[in-house]
Amino acid sequence: PEEQTLALIKPEAAKTHKDEIMNKVKEAGFNISKIKEQALTREMAAQIYKDHQGKPFFDELVNCMTEGPSVIMVLSKENAVEEWRNLMGPADPEEAKKTCPESIRAQFAHDILSNAVHGSSNVEHAERSIQFAFGELDAD
Ligand code: CMP
Repeated sequence: PEEQTLALIKPEAAKTHKDEIMNKVKEAGFNISKIKEQALTREMAAQIYKDHQGKPFFDELVNCMTEGPSVIMVLSKENAVEEWRNLMGPADPEEAKKTCPESIRAQFAHDILSNAVHGSSNVEHAERSIQFAFGELDAD
């Protein structure tokens, strides 16, 4: 069935590789249902990365995600959550280069933290993050 996911081009990649990443999104057949360019607030970053709260890299991750404008998108496609994760590749670009050389992270990620793109990890997460990024919903 048609599905939606929240996809971000992280600030550093939004500055340096936006057009190349957007081309890969389109080539892969995603429909871009919504798009805006905006710096995440710390509150938005904390919501998107709720499951990572308490991890040693959490503060650094929030800093990295709020340092400049991200490209924030809702992508639609059959099986969009998993398809976007496949196109992103593994979080660690070194691993991505070895195992998924065609992936976005293999080609454009800097390091594991500033790794070019983000995508929701499951459908429920996607729905919540989309509401939070584009809707009126408050963080819970
Ligand atoms: P992302 O897909 O945005 O979702 C969680 C993010 O946490 C991940 O990409 C990385 O940017 C970051 N991350 C995950 N593991 C580590 C790690 N071991 N060290 C630093 N950052 C990490």
